[in-house]
Amino acid sequence: MPEASPAGATMRAAVQHRYGPPSVLRPSEAAIPVLGRGDVLVRVGAAAVHPGDYFVMTGEPYVLRLAFGFRRPRQGIPGRDLAGVVAAVGTDVTAFRPGDAVFGWSTAGTLAEYACVPADNLAPVPANVSVVDAAAVPTSGMTAWQAMRRIANVQPGQTVLITGASGGVGSFAVQIAKALGAEVTGVCSTRNVDLVRSIGADHVVDYTKTDFTRTGNRYDVILDNVEAQPLAAVRRALTPTGTLIPNSGHGGRWLGPIGRIVKARVLSGFTRQQLKPFVSVEKRQDLLALADLLSSGQVRSVIDRTYSLDEAADALAYVGAGHTRGKVVITV
Ligand SMILES: NC(=O)c1ccc[n+]([C@@H]2O[C@H](COP(=O)([O-])OP(=O)(O)OC[C@H]3O[C@@H](n4cnc5c(N)ncnc54)[C@H](OP(=O)(O)O)[C@@H]3O)[C@@H](O)[C@H]2O)c1
Repeated sequence: MPEASPAGATMRAAVQHRYGPPSVLRPSEAAIPVLGRGDVLVRVGAAAVHPGDYFVMTGEPYVLRLAFGFRRPRQGIPGRDLAGVVAAVGTDVTAFRPGDAVFGWSTAGTLAEYACVPADNLAPVPANVSVVDAAAVPTSGMTAWQAMRRIANVQPGQTVLITGASGGVGSFAVQIAKALGAEVTGVCSTRNVDLVRSIGADHVVDYTKTDFTRTGNRYDVILDNVEAQPLAAVRRALTPTGTLIPNSGHGGRWLGPIGRIVKARVLSGFTRQQLKPFVSVEKRQDLLALADLLSSGQVRSVIDRTYSLDEAADALAYVGAGHTRGKVVITV
């Protein structure tokens, strides 16, 4: 039997009843989710938002609607990442107890006072990490970890170039590549040069002054979070057997980045260079790997701005503008 939340109990949440611009997101009352046997009810302390949340809120690219609801969002409360304190656990949960500090991800909405999360989607917050810093990690941190560790398998001494190094994914990727022993170059705008250096980049390319595809330098691994240059140009900056991960989620109104992903995959069959676009998949094992890196101080969250739950629309508008420095977090 699921453990029920108090009958009729409600919570504050950011709710959207239709797809559209950030103004569709309104502070409202919503029912506290009902716990399943393997679930944990988390009292949300903080929830990070990222470009994927913006795409889901707008319902564009339209292909997303196959998963999130065709005419209107099936899930009225947006948000995926969270950190907070366990309020209650389902009858099958043994890994967590009420009062534990946890972070992770939920597909049932996190921009709310409470979120219902399968226990397998959670990990303990490391002792030295704040709730805001922990909430910033899951989606962006796991994407960066999977790109650097699972896809590129970065080795000590390799040269790695990361575009969008000042953003959510990029700021984690720079630090993870350094932790794996790589020599890291971050590409960012002038105002973010000091930030990217401060998180460990050995070299910084200011894209407003220098085009990294025309410097003559070649890299073993390129994580291209922006895809501002054509694939052919970026490949010039890759070693003959290097790995390129095109990673921008932006693209056309219907299919988003799918056309570019297919093109890179097809081209990959005709070159010794590895062209490897990917879709990140949340894995608890990767969250635990990130918890270790946070614990040891090798990785930290870069927080750009925090917003209150009532300001969720402003937070999504800021993320949608695409100039985030690190992460945007909603504190609940
Ligand atoms: N593969 C996956 O499953 C997956 C998962 C998560 C995210 N993503 C994608 O990864 C991309 C990055 O996500 P994010 O969360 O890091 O985005 P973000 O937080 O918005 O960061 C983007 C960063 O790029 C910088 N930037 C803009 N133009 C640039 C350029 N020409 N060269 C270098 N940097 C530039 C921006 O700062 P300035 O404008 O100030 O320069 C900003 O700091 C998104 O397109 C997202 O959809 C993919």
